[in-house]
Amino acid sequence: MTIDTVKKAIYPGSFDPITNGHIDVLKRSLTLFDEVTIAVIHNPDKTSLFSLEERLAIIESIFVEYPQVHVDTFTGLLVDYLKKTNNTTIIRGLRAVSDFEFEFQMALTNRKLYEKMDTVFLMTDQKYSYLSSSIVKQVARYGGDISEFVTLDVQEALEKKMMKDHVI
Ligand code: PNS
Repeated sequence: MTIDTVKKAIYPGSFDPITNGHIDVLKRSLTLFDEVTIAVIHNPDKTSLFSLEERLAIIESIFVEYPQVHVDTFTGLLVDYLKKTNNTTIIRGLRAVSDFEFEFQMALTNRKLYEKMDTVFLMTDQKYSYLSSSIVKQVARYGGDISEFVTLDVQEALEKKMMKDHVI
């Protein structure tokens, strides 16, 4: 297969931290694309619980056995990252109707900024339809059981982070 026929896509997000819902969307995307790059946003204006390096390390460890999954970072406009990396497709997960309005706005704004691009929406498994990184952090902060929401690595990283930062 030549490089031109490789179907590739970008899965952008904050991933603070990556949840089982994100992983479900990523795995679904692998049935449609040959190569998927998880692009973690570096947003200096937004406080995240995990540093960029920590988020990257966690994601890399989860997908270590998936040669078709790459991990990268971007800052600024997503469309600029797409142009720079020669990509035209992004993947976004949809959990519920409530996600749609923002995703619709983002997809059309991105397309206005870069007409060649498309957003592919994938529905998460219903069992993750309520899940978000914010909810996971909130449950972890108060010592709740997050074992069904994130991988063991993420769970341990969260518990460590909560203890280190004296959040609990
Ligand atoms: O995981 P998230 O927080 O829902 O991801 C949102 C993200 C990072 C994909 C989105 O905020 C983004 O693309 N930010 C980069 C800035 C940008 O390009 N904005 C214009 C499109 S609205």
